Amino acid sequence: MIKEKFDLTGKIALVTGSTRGIGKAIGDAFEEYGAKVIRHDRDVCDLSDPAAIDAFFAKLQAEGLMPDILVANASIQAKIPWTEFPLDEAQKEMQVNFFATLRMFQLCYPKMKAQKWGRMIVLGSVNERRPHPDMCVYAATKSAQENLVRGIARQVAAEGITVNNLCPGVFNTDRNRECLSDPVYASKVTAAIPCHDYAMPEDAAGAALLLASDAGRYITGSTILVDGGLALPG
Ligand SMILES: NC(=O)c1ccc[n+]([C@@H]2O[C@H](COP(=O)([O-])OP(=O)(O)OC[C@H]3O[C@@H](n4cnc5c(N)ncnc54)[C@H](OP(=O)(O)O)[C@@H]3O)[C@@H](O)[C@H]2O)c1
Repeated sequence: MIKEKFDLTGKIALVTGSTRGIGKAIGDAFEEYGAKVIRHDRDVCDLSDPAAIDAFFAKLQAEGLMPDILVANASIQAKIPWTEFPLDEAQKEMQVNFFATLRMFQLCYPKMKAQKWGRMIVLGSVNERRPHPDMCVYAATKSAQENLVRGIARQVAAEGITVNNLCPGVFNTDRNRECLSDPVYASKVTAAIPCHDYAMPEDAAGAALLLASDAGRYITGSTILVDGGLALPG
């Protein structure tokens, strides 16, 4: 009866950054499997503003919509050499990509603990393994997130809560659309990926569904790469 284990009926899932890209594909898959999905983007709650996060969760609490499943998907990235990277930009990346995740974990935890069921998933990046030279700060925020996942996973595993890191490789989403529309650049990128193709947003949805559902109940503290083999040693 493996099919039933993927069913998310009755679960509330908050997927940050779920109005487009990978987050949207994950939200769509969760809905298809029965979850109530809270769609989020910058207009709903700007994750660069710590006070806005607390206010957003207070609203969810008041409306009885605290998540059973949290997917911290939204992120920002700037392509700037590390020697010139402005500190205020680095702090903003750390806030959106790491501190916001930590705060959302803290806010989701009491409900998950009380009901002895919860799923915390972060979107990492293949940059954790192979940092792009102009995205060292972004890669560092993702590695910090991955370390947090392992640190928390051990502590909450006996409470029915799993915590995992899902790492995309190169996906054709808005942030990459312009460069991938250049055929010369795109063929250089795909040549470096062992499966010789970039991914589409829905390619991440199956792994997210596994981690979010009872089918993945025994997976915790893991990093799952969805990267066509890009992180493999060359
Ligand atoms: N695409 C890739 O190749 C790739 C590779 C490795 C890892 N990833 C990771 O996968 C995740 C999804 O990537 P994606 O390419 O699908 O992203 P995307 O298309 O760039 O979409 C980003 C989403 O995050 C939201 N967001 C950005 N800044 C925010 C903020 N300050 N507050 C609230 N929401 C904010 C955006 O909301 P608005 O629509 O309001 O702007 C949007 O919904 C990210 O964590 C990314 O780092 C992606």
